[in-house]
Amino acid sequence: NRLKSHSRGALIVLEGLDRCGKTSQASRLVSFLTGLGHAVEMWRFPDRTTVVGKMISSYLSNRSHLDDRAIHLLFSANRWEKRSLMEDKLRCGTTLIVDRYSYSGVAFSSAKELDLLWCKTPEKGLLAPDLVVYLDISPEKAAERGGYGGERYEQLEFQKKVAQSYHKLFDASWKIVDATLPIEEIEEQLRDVALDCLVTCQKGKSLSQLWS
Ligand code: TMP
Repeated sequence: NRLKSHSRGALIVLEGLDRCGKTSQASRLVSFLTGLGHAVEMWRFPDRTTVVGKMISSYLSNRSHLDDRAIHLLFSANRWEKRSLMEDKLRCGTTLIVDRYSYSGVAFSSAKELDLLWCKTPEKGLLAPDLVVYLDISPEKAAERGGYGGERYEQLEFQKKVAQSYHKLFDASWKIVDATLPIEEIEEQLRDVALDCLVTCQKGKSLSQLWS
């Protein structure tokens, strides 16, 4: 019994450093919104199930090595290959809670000292999120949480650079949430902003494009 399926869904993106708690908050939010009768799906980037995604996964686990620009473009291609499905879902009324998006693409690659504008260019024309939530945690605190899985970017020194890159992308429209608060408090804040966002989209806010 899907309610409100006549209006479009919202594109909600969660961003942050590795170990900031994005993934668990994203799934909690999906359960909450589903429980209210909304059509909701959880998505994540990289989507490791596609051919491009498998190349990315192999790079992240150090099973392959790629030029910094080449891997940047693969991350971007991985979003492009999902773009039309994303648009179809949103127009059909499904809200998407997305764990990482173009901001991760730009923050992680520009942390390798690739030019910020160069990093943004391949993302232009992807769908712009209706809401970006940044789960804010210092790289040191995130590292203390442990469980860095040993993937390529999961190193304190690199995460410090990623944090600086993210700060360059901050926008007044972003919702910055203190990721060191108790899980339930973060969850509560996310619920509030997500519901506001859904209402705005239901009222007819149109889809727009990123950085164009
Ligand atoms: P994950 O741990 O959320 O699956 O993400 C894998 C890593 O890939 C993570 O360290 C962030 C990084 N990443 C990029 O470098 N560029 C991107 O476009 C995305 C989506 C993630």
